[in-house]
Amino acid sequence: MADSFDILVIGGGTGGYPAAIRAAQLGMTVACIERRDALGGTCLNVGCIPSKALLHSSELFAEVQQGMEEHGIGIGGVAMNVPQFIARKDEVVAGLTKGVEHLFKKNKVEWVKGSARFEAPDRLRVELNDGGSRTLTATKGVIIATGSESSSLKNVEVDEKRIITSTGALCLCEVPRHLVVIGAGYIGLELGSVWRRLGSEVTVIEFLDGIVPTMDREIARHFHKELERQGLKFRFNTKVTEARQHDGSVTLAFEPAAGGAAETLEADVVLVAVGRRPYTHGLSLDLIGLKLDEKGRIPVTEGFRTNVPGVYAVGDVIPGPMLAHKTTLDGVTCVEGIAGRYAGVDYNTVPEVIYTAPAVASVGQTEEELKAAGVDYKVGKFPFTAVSRARCNGDTRGLTKILTEAGTNRILGVHIFGADADLMIPEAVLAMEFGATTEDIALTVHAHPTLPEVIKEAALVELGRAMHI
Ligand code: FAD
Ligand code: NAI
Repeated sequence: MADSFDILVIGGGTGGYPAAIRAAQLGMTVACIERRDALGGTCLNVGCIPSKALLHSSELFAEVQQGMEEHGIGIGGVAMNVPQFIARKDEVVAGLTKGVEHLFKKNKVEWVKGSARFEAPDRLRVELNDGGSRTLTATKGVIIATGSESSSLKNVEVDEKRIITSTGALCLCEVPRHLVVIGAGYIGLELGSVWRRLGSEVTVIEFLDGIVPTMDREIARHFHKELERQGLKFRFNTKVTEARQHDGSVTLAFEPAAGGAAETLEADVVLVAVGRRPYTHGLSLDLIGLKLDEKGRIPVTEGFRTNVPGVYAVGDVIPGPMLAHKTTLDGVTCVEGIAGRYAGVDYNTVPEVIYTAPAVASVGQTEEELKAAGVDYKVGKFPFTAVSRARCNGDTRGLTKILTEAGTNRILGVHIFGADADLMIPEAVLAMEFGATTEDIALTVHAHPTLPEVIKEAALVELGRAMHI
């Protein structure tokens, strides 16, 4: 006999678990089907959280190793204990995933441990991890939140030991002598930085002519220069054609993206980081007539409705940025909609952060996007070197750029490359949410001396009222 719930959520990641909790808070009975041994999905288990733990530890290591003499602090014999470095990350992950389990219990969400597939739009069959199966039905809707997986490359076979995805890069047991990263995007630059700080030679091979294709190009150029200063090497306009393993190393064959003479490179470890693709494998979507788009994503209309009534989809599996906070926005908004509340989202104010040192954070449109859309815009830029707190801290790398609509000064995009960019971007997000102008930011008193003054100063530059540059 089937167990009946109001809502069934497939996937316990940052899209699915907040959807389940919010649905329970709104008075619905909920089951979340997750096959992984821990809740939290990609973000908590093999994504945001473990990568940020390793980024933080490796940043501390690099700072202590290289950055203290200027401050008069002498430290000798600094060494990284790699097993402890990895074990600490595992503890952080375990603590947070257990926390989600606790929240499920508190909110009376049932975690069904197994793999779900559709038998009908309102009925799922779950093959339980412990053996056996269960049939579950939903009276108010089924939410698909099955996320994404690493994209693969032809002739580059991942074994998660020598040829790895981000998941393997989060648990290497020793520092590779030469790490070759394929793809100069979020994962390549964050995890490439981690292992570079620990001493690896890192070569990044990128198909296009620069790093992070979606980033404002001026910011990307500054960021690229800084990464090179940190010792990362880049090969742009290059495509990998094959990776072959032999005697504990990997030979990579590559050639110019536009065609030309082939070359080879030896690596101890190769990290494949060429994007992620939606994951819908094994759901039996055909059986219920649910349609995918040309990229394998589930298209949705307002309220996260799929083409099948009563079936919704949220997170990485639908179009839009593949970011944890965006997936949570989707999940929560979707169940609010099912409960009859407002179900609109604005992805234009979803911030993006690359957690390198310095970090890059942005919201809204890039200069290239505004040009392409034919928008009449103005720019205000301010370098960290002219911010007094950056001087006090001894880190003046970076730049802030504000893009506004000409005539109204309404903020259309903010791009920050510099220390604590991740902590500063919420001011810009809030400003855009409120439809603020650079005048509003200029009139807002910023404490002195703080790094966020860089945003106010960029606003003053845009208004033609700069005093500190
Ligand atoms: P997922 O988190 O992938 O969850 C889907 C879940 O569904 C999985 O746990 C899976 O086991 C389960 N599942 C799938 N099919 C079934 C089935 N049939 N039955 C049962 N269970 C099923 N984003 C940020 O915003 N900030 C970051 O710093 C950041 N860092 C990242 C670092 C890395 C290395 C990676 C890989 C990603 C990072 N991301 C980051 C992206 C972020 O992790 C994803 O956007 C987010 O996790 C997607 O959430 P989701 O709920 O849509 O899917
Ligand atoms: P990405 O899309 O950020 O970058 C992939 C890069 O690989 C691009 O620069 C692309 O041009 C390049 N590329 C594609 N095919 C290639 C090929 N054949 N050869 C060489 N280069 C190639 O994807 P990435 O880094 O894998 O990350 C996946 C997603 O995970 C991100 O887009 C982001 O949504 C999310 N993420 C977010 C993080 C954050 O918020 N800080 C951190 C890590 C991941």
